[in-house]
Amino acid sequence: MQTPSPDLQAIPPDVFCLADYERHASHNMPAGAWAYLQGGAADEHTLQANARAWQAISLVPRVLRRTAGGHTRTELFGRTMAHPLMLAPIAYQLLAHPEGEIGSALAAAAQEAGYVLSTQSSTALEDIADATALDHLRGPLWMQLYLQPDREFTRLLIKRAEAAGYEALVLTVDAPTSGVRDRERRAGFRLPEGVSAVNLRGMSTPPSPTLSPEQSALFDGLLHHAPTWDDIAWLKQVTRLPILLKGVLHPDDARLAVQAGVQGIIVSNHGGRTLDTAITTARALPRVVDAVGSDVPVLVDGGIRRGTDVLKALALGARAVLIGRPAVHALATAGALGVAHAIRLLRDELEAAMALTGCATLADIGPALLADD
Ligand code: FNR
Ligand code: LAC
Repeated sequence: MQTPSPDLQAIPPDVFCLADYERHASHNMPAGAWAYLQGGAADEHTLQANARAWQAISLVPRVLRRTAGGHTRTELFGRTMAHPLMLAPIAYQLLAHPEGEIGSALAAAAQEAGYVLSTQSSTALEDIADATALDHLRGPLWMQLYLQPDREFTRLLIKRAEAAGYEALVLTVDAPTSGVRDRERRAGFRLPEGVSAVNLRGMSTPPSPTLSPEQSALFDGLLHHAPTWDDIAWLKQVTRLPILLKGVLHPDDARLAVQAGVQGIIVSNHGGRTLDTAITTARALPRVVDAVGSDVPVLVDGGIRRGTDVLKALALGARAVLIGRPAVHALATAGALGVAHAIRLLRDELEAAMALTGCATLADIGPALLADD
């Protein structure tokens, strides 16, 4: 690990909220890496709309309620969490800071937040588990999965995650192919030397089929290896860990997921990086919650930047929320310290939002706090 320059290890004095970290990161990161981190698909409508959708929901606070002694504790898969914040899986965090995923995972552990490691992390999954193993207050540690064309390699990857102590698998289902990443292409982004998907080393890649001119590289090539509902049955045979599907937006898919026996759903549009103009997660969330009832926990991510956004997500039925880009903005600005600070800021904002809406516990947060027009 390189030694970060001293100015990338201190919290700048003008950081008071997550947007302040975004501003700093935009100056600190190389242009190509910034385009990769920050960008969305195509015209970035969904990327922009995600954040705006939370902002557009009006809160109708209650007053004079007794909130002293309140707390943000919650339960997920039989485990108590100090608060409902988790870090979303983000690939290649060494792009942001030499501390990379070790930095963000240590910060999450120190702030009792959950952590989801990307399949495409630039740090080995075992190293992340080792770094946080002795922290007894840490939040849940989950492994995000992209099913690889080499299913035997995927099975071994799952076994490695189990052996290392990961507590759940998050299967991402909204990216059978990558989105149309115009911003990234305009910037000519390439992974720099020393940053790679180290968990996938040694994996075999299927030979490219010879296609006739009428055939499609996507439909007749790549998509032969894309996961389908049948793979959920396979996954359930391979592992005893709880499985969450990440990237569900349609209520019918949420129902199918429950029928297929998954233990959790993450309403997500990949932070607007896959299908542009996909529905915002704030809008999709209550539909999915309606579809699955209380059968399985529903989590959400996309555009969550303020404690009030977290409160609104919980009011719409989410059991926990995941934060994507803001954690990497903080990492790029001040390493692990920045990420820990960012989580703390959001947690403090959530507490303030609860106090100001008359909620002593997460159980008090419900749709009655939301304006219905
Ligand atoms: C992602 N996301 C993602 N998701 C996933 O399942 N596996 C991955 O490897 C990645 N990698 C990744 C890289 C970068 C740079 C970004 C910005 C996002 C999606 C991520 O987990 C999450 O769904 C969104 O980032 C949430 O939206 P916000 O909080 O960034 O608006
Ligand atoms: C991304 C992939 C890695 O969003 O999920 O860049």
